[in-house]
Amino acid sequence: MSELVSRGQILVTGASRGIGAAIAQDLVARGYDVACLSRSGDAPVGYGLVCDVGDPVSIKTAVDAASARGPIVGLVNCAGAHAMASALELKIADFESMMRVNAGSVLMVSQAAHPHLVANGGGTVVNIGSFFDKLGVPDNTAYCASKAAVGAITRCLSVEWASDGIAVVNVAPGYIETDLNRDFLSRDKVRAWMQKRIPVGRPGDVREIARLVGALFAERIAFLTGETIYIDGAQGMNH
Ligand SMILES: NC(=O)c1ccc[n+]([C@@H]2O[C@H](COP(=O)([O-])OP(=O)(O)OC[C@H]3O[C@@H](n4cnc5c(N)ncnc54)[C@H](OP(=O)(O)O)[C@@H]3O)[C@@H](O)[C@H]2O)c1
Repeated sequence: MSELVSRGQILVTGASRGIGAAIAQDLVARGYDVACLSRSGDAPVGYGLVCDVGDPVSIKTAVDAASARGPIVGLVNCAGAHAMASALELKIADFESMMRVNAGSVLMVSQAAHPHLVANGGGTVVNIGSFFDKLGVPDNTAYCASKAAVGAITRCLSVEWASDGIAVVNVAPGYIETDLNRDFLSRDKVRAWMQKRIPVGRPGDVREIARLVGALFAERIAFLTGETIYIDGAQGMNH
Protein backbone atom coordinates (compact mmCIF):
# COMPACT_ATOMS: atom_id res chain seq x y z
CA MET A 1 0.00 0.00 0.00
CA SER A 2 1.48 3.39 -0.96
CA GLU A 3 1.65 5.99 1.78
CA LEU A 4 -0.16 9.30 1.23
CA VAL A 5 2.39 12.07 0.57
CA SER A 6 1.64 15.09 2.81
CA ARG A 7 0.36 18.20 1.05
CA GLY A 8 1.80 20.34 3.88
CA GLN A 9 0.66 21.45 7.28
CA ILE A 10 -2.52 23.37 8.10
CA LEU A 11 -3.22 24.94 11.49
CA VAL A 12 -6.84 24.68 12.64
CA THR A 13 -7.88 26.65 15.73
CA GLY A 14 -10.86 25.37 17.70
CA ALA A 15 -10.29 21.87 16.34
CA SER A 16 -10.84 20.03 19.63
CA ARG A 17 -14.55 19.56 18.84
CA GLY A 18 -17.51 20.74 16.72
CA ILE A 19 -16.96 22.37 13.33
CA GLY A 20 -13.18 22.70 13.80
CA ALA A 21 -12.81 18.97 14.53
CA ALA A 22 -14.77 18.11 11.37
CA ILE A 23 -12.58 20.49 9.33
CA ALA A 24 -9.43 18.86 10.75
CA GLN A 25 -10.80 15.42 9.83
CA ASP A 26 -11.61 16.50 6.26
CA LEU A 27 -8.16 18.04 5.77
CA VAL A 28 -6.38 14.92 7.06
CA ALA A 29 -8.47 12.79 4.67
CA ARG A 30 -7.27 15.06 1.84
CA GLY A 31 -3.63 14.40 2.76
CA TYR A 32 -2.72 17.44 4.86
CA ASP A 33 -0.89 17.33 8.19
CA VAL A 34 -3.11 19.12 10.69
CA ALA A 35 -2.21 20.91 13.91
CA CYS A 36 -5.27 21.24 16.17
CA LEU A 37 -5.05 24.37 18.36
CA SER A 38 -7.33 24.85 21.36
CA ARG A 39 -7.19 25.55 25.09
CA SER A 40 -7.54 21.83 25.89
CA GLY A 41 -5.09 20.79 23.18
CA ASP A 42 -7.36 17.83 22.30
CA ALA A 43 -6.95 16.54 18.76
CA PRO A 44 -9.51 14.29 17.02
CA VAL A 45 -6.93 13.77 14.25
CA GLY A 46 -3.46 15.11 13.50
CA TYR A 47 -1.79 16.41 16.64
CA GLY A 48 -2.87 18.82 19.38
CA LEU A 49 -1.32 22.06 20.59
CA VAL A 50 -2.49 24.00 23.63
CA CYS A 51 -3.31 27.55 22.55
CA ASP A 52 -5.54 30.31 23.88
CA VAL A 53 -6.40 32.37 20.78
CA GLY A 54 -7.04 35.42 22.96
CA ASP A 55 -3.41 35.47 24.11
CA PRO A 56 -0.65 36.52 21.67
CA VAL A 57 2.10 34.78 23.69
CA SER A 58 0.18 31.49 23.68
CA ILE A 59 -0.44 31.90 19.92
CA LYS A 60 3.26 32.50 19.15
CA THR A 61 4.32 29.47 21.21
CA ALA A 62 1.84 27.21 19.38
CA VAL A 63 2.61 28.52 15.87
CA ASP A 64 6.38 28.23 16.49
CA ALA A 65 5.89 24.64 17.72
CA ALA A 66 3.90 23.80 14.59
CA SER A 67 6.46 25.35 12.25
CA ALA A 68 9.20 23.27 13.90
CA ARG A 69 7.34 20.15 12.69
CA GLY A 70 7.13 21.18 9.03
CA PRO A 71 6.15 23.89 6.54
CA ILE A 72 2.82 25.63 7.16
CA VAL A 73 0.69 25.99 4.00
CA GLY A 74 -2.59 27.11 5.54
CA LEU A 75 -4.60 28.29 8.52
CA VAL A 76 -8.24 27.86 9.56
CA ASN A 77 -9.42 30.34 12.21
CA CYS A 78 -12.37 28.41 13.67
CA ALA A 79 -12.07 28.92 17.46
CA GLY A 80 -14.97 30.97 18.77
CA ALA A 81 -17.38 31.54 21.61
CA HIS A 82 -21.05 32.43 21.83
CA ALA A 83 -22.97 34.12 24.65
CA MET A 84 -26.26 36.00 24.78
CA ALA A 85 -27.33 39.21 26.51
CA SER A 86 -29.80 41.94 25.64
CA ALA A 87 -28.23 45.13 24.29
CA LEU A 88 -29.34 46.99 27.42
CA GLU A 89 -27.76 44.47 29.77
CA LEU A 90 -24.62 43.65 27.75
CA LYS A 91 -21.56 44.60 29.80
CA ILE A 92 -18.75 46.29 27.86
CA ALA A 93 -16.25 43.83 29.38
CA ASP A 94 -18.26 40.90 27.95
CA PHE A 95 -18.56 42.68 24.58
CA GLU A 96 -14.78 43.23 24.48
CA SER A 97 -14.06 39.67 25.52
CA MET A 98 -16.25 38.31 22.70
CA MET A 99 -14.59 40.66 20.19
CA ARG A 100 -11.16 39.45 21.31
CA VAL A 101 -11.90 35.70 21.18
CA ASN A 102 -13.94 35.75 17.94
CA ALA A 103 -12.35 38.58 15.94
CA GLY A 104 -9.08 39.73 17.56
CA SER A 105 -7.96 36.09 17.49
CA VAL A 106 -8.42 35.94 13.71
CA LEU A 107 -6.06 38.89 13.34
CA MET A 108 -3.53 37.66 15.90
CA VAL A 109 -3.27 34.04 14.68
CA SER A 110 -3.13 35.22 11.05
CA GLN A 111 -0.32 37.65 11.96
CA ALA A 112 1.61 34.82 13.65
CA ALA A 113 1.11 32.47 10.68
CA HIS A 114 1.93 35.11 8.02
CA PRO A 115 5.77 34.78 8.00
CA HIS A 116 5.50 30.98 7.81
CA LEU A 117 3.07 31.14 4.87
CA VAL A 118 5.30 33.67 3.11
CA ALA A 119 8.36 31.45 3.69
CA ASN A 120 6.45 28.71 1.91
CA GLY A 121 5.54 30.89 -1.10
CA GLY A 122 2.05 31.87 0.10
CA GLY A 123 -1.01 29.87 1.15
CA THR A 124 -4.65 30.02 2.19
CA VAL A 125 -6.34 31.38 5.31
CA VAL A 126 -9.96 30.40 5.92
CA ASN A 127 -11.84 32.21 8.68
CA ILE A 128 -15.05 30.80 10.14
CA GLY A 129 -17.53 33.65 10.51
CA SER A 130 -21.31 33.35 10.77
CA PHE A 131 -24.41 34.33 8.81
CA PHE A 132 -25.29 36.37 11.91
CA ASP A 133 -22.72 38.89 10.57
CA LYS A 134 -25.38 40.64 8.50
CA LEU A 135 -28.49 39.91 10.57
CA GLY A 136 -30.12 41.73 13.48
CA VAL A 137 -30.41 39.01 16.10
CA PRO A 138 -31.96 39.80 19.50
CA ASP A 139 -29.61 39.25 22.46
CA ASN A 140 -26.65 38.73 20.09
CA THR A 141 -25.07 42.19 19.74
CA ALA A 142 -21.59 41.06 20.79
CA TYR A 143 -21.59 37.86 18.71
CA CYS A 144 -23.00 39.58 15.59
CA ALA A 145 -20.48 42.44 15.89
CA SER A 146 -17.60 39.99 16.31
CA LYS A 147 -18.60 38.01 13.22
CA ALA A 148 -19.10 41.19 11.16
CA ALA A 149 -15.53 42.07 12.20
CA VAL A 150 -14.32 38.67 10.93
CA GLY A 151 -15.74 39.57 7.49
CA ALA A 152 -14.01 42.97 7.60
CA ILE A 153 -10.66 41.51 8.72
CA THR A 154 -10.93 38.93 5.91
CA ARG A 155 -11.40 41.69 3.31
CA CYS A 156 -8.50 43.80 4.60
CA LEU A 157 -6.03 40.89 4.93
CA SER A 158 -6.94 39.68 1.44
CA VAL A 159 -6.04 43.10 0.01
CA GLU A 160 -2.82 43.51 2.01
CA TRP A 161 -1.57 39.93 1.56
CA ALA A 162 -2.50 39.22 -2.07
CA SER A 163 1.00 40.22 -3.19
CA ASP A 164 2.39 37.64 -0.72
CA GLY A 165 0.44 34.91 -2.53
CA ILE A 166 -1.96 34.49 0.41
CA ALA A 167 -5.71 34.08 -0.23
CA VAL A 168 -8.07 34.86 2.68
CA VAL A 169 -11.68 33.65 2.64
CA ASN A 170 -14.49 33.92 5.22
CA VAL A 171 -16.82 30.90 5.43
CA ALA A 172 -20.03 31.98 7.20
CA PRO A 173 -22.22 29.07 8.37
CA GLY A 174 -25.88 29.14 9.35
CA TYR A 175 -27.25 26.84 12.11
CA ILE A 176 -24.99 23.81 12.31
CA GLU A 177 -25.75 20.79 14.45
CA THR A 178 -22.89 20.13 16.91
CA ASP A 179 -22.59 18.15 20.15
CA LEU A 180 -23.36 21.34 22.05
CA ASN A 181 -26.72 22.13 20.43
CA ARG A 182 -27.89 18.67 19.24
CA ASP A 183 -30.38 18.22 22.13
CA PHE A 184 -31.73 21.76 21.69
CA LEU A 185 -32.10 21.39 17.90
CA SER A 186 -33.89 18.05 18.26
CA ARG A 187 -36.74 19.58 20.30
CA ASP A 188 -40.03 19.37 18.34
CA LYS A 189 -40.69 23.12 18.60
CA VAL A 190 -37.18 24.06 17.45
CA ARG A 191 -37.26 21.50 14.63
CA ALA A 192 -40.60 22.89 13.38
CA TRP A 193 -39.20 26.45 13.49
CA MET A 194 -36.09 25.34 11.56
CA GLN A 195 -38.19 23.61 8.93
CA LYS A 196 -40.10 26.85 8.38
CA ARG A 197 -37.18 29.29 8.53
CA ILE A 198 -34.48 27.35 6.68
CA PRO A 199 -35.49 26.78 3.03
CA VAL A 200 -33.43 23.55 2.98
CA GLY A 201 -35.59 22.44 5.94
CA ARG A 202 -32.90 21.45 8.44
CA PRO A 203 -29.76 22.69 10.18
CA GLY A 204 -26.39 22.05 8.52
CA ASP A 205 -24.08 19.15 9.25
CA VAL A 206 -20.50 19.88 10.40
CA ARG A 207 -19.27 17.73 7.49
CA GLU A 208 -20.88 20.15 5.00
CA ILE A 209 -18.81 23.04 6.39
CA ALA A 210 -15.73 20.81 6.49
CA ARG A 211 -16.15 19.78 2.84
CA LEU A 212 -16.36 23.42 1.74
CA VAL A 213 -13.26 24.38 3.73
CA GLY A 214 -11.38 21.29 2.53
CA ALA A 215 -12.28 22.10 -1.08
CA LEU A 216 -10.98 25.68 -0.69
CA PHE A 217 -7.57 24.31 0.30
CA ALA A 218 -7.50 21.48 -2.23
CA GLU A 219 -8.60 23.67 -5.16
CA ARG A 220 -6.40 26.71 -4.25
CA ILE A 221 -8.29 29.20 -6.41
CA ALA A 222 -6.00 32.21 -6.00
CA PHE A 223 -8.51 34.67 -7.52
CA LEU A 224 -11.10 33.76 -4.84
CA THR A 225 -10.00 35.98 -1.95
CA GLY A 226 -11.55 38.50 0.44
CA GLU A 227 -14.99 37.02 -0.04
CA THR A 228 -17.55 35.81 2.50
CA ILE A 229 -19.18 32.54 1.43
CA TYR A 230 -22.49 31.91 3.21
CA ILE A 231 -23.41 28.27 3.80
CA ASP A 232 -26.76 28.43 5.59
CA GLY A 233 -29.37 26.50 3.59
CA ALA A 234 -30.48 29.92 2.21
CA GLN A 235 -31.78 31.01 5.64
CA GLY A 236 -29.99 34.37 5.53
CA MET A 237 -31.73 35.38 2.28
CA ASN A 238 -35.13 33.90 3.11
CA HIS A 239 -37.82 36.59 3.23
N1 LIG B 1 -22.48 25.79 15.56
C1 LIG B 1 -23.06 26.72 14.83
O1 LIG B 1 -24.28 26.68 14.60
C2 LIG B 1 -22.22 27.84 14.22
C3 LIG B 1 -22.81 28.65 13.27
C4 LIG B 1 -22.06 29.69 12.68
C5 LIG B 1 -20.74 29.87 13.04
N2 LIG B 1 -20.19 29.06 13.97
C6 LIG B 1 -18.78 29.31 14.32
O2 LIG B 1 -18.01 28.15 14.10
C7 LIG B 1 -16.93 28.10 15.02
C8 LIG B 1 -16.95 26.77 15.76
O3 LIG B 1 -18.21 26.65 16.40
P1 LIG B 1 -18.69 25.28 17.07
O4 LIG B 1 -20.17 25.28 17.04
O5 LIG B 1 -17.94 24.14 16.51
O6 LIG B 1 -18.25 25.57 18.59
P2 LIG B 1 -17.80 24.60 19.76
O7 LIG B 1 -18.29 23.20 19.53
O8 LIG B 1 -18.16 25.31 21.02
O9 LIG B 1 -16.19 24.59 19.62
C9 LIG B 1 -15.47 25.76 19.86
C10 LIG B 1 -14.00 25.45 19.66
O10 LIG B 1 -13.24 26.64 19.90
C11 LIG B 1 -12.26 26.36 20.89
N3 LIG B 1 -12.06 27.58 21.66
C12 LIG B 1 -12.97 28.34 22.31
N4 LIG B 1 -12.38 29.39 22.92
C13 LIG B 1 -11.04 29.29 22.63
C14 LIG B 1 -9.89 30.04 22.98
N5 LIG B 1 -9.96 31.15 23.74
N6 LIG B 1 -8.68 29.62 22.52
C15 LIG B 1 -8.57 28.52 21.75
N7 LIG B 1 -9.62 27.76 21.38
C16 LIG B 1 -10.83 28.13 21.84
C17 LIG B 1 -12.82 25.19 21.69
O11 LIG B 1 -11.80 24.39 22.28
P3 LIG B 1 -11.35 24.50 23.82
O12 LIG B 1 -12.58 24.62 24.65
O13 LIG B 1 -10.56 23.23 24.04
O14 LIG B 1 -10.47 25.70 23.89
C18 LIG B 1 -13.49 24.37 20.59
O15 LIG B 1 -12.54 23.58 19.91
C19 LIG B 1 -17.08 29.31 15.92
O16 LIG B 1 -16.27 30.37 15.45
C20 LIG B 1 -18.55 29.67 15.77
O17 LIG B 1 -18.80 31.03 16.03
C21 LIG B 1 -20.88 28.05 14.58
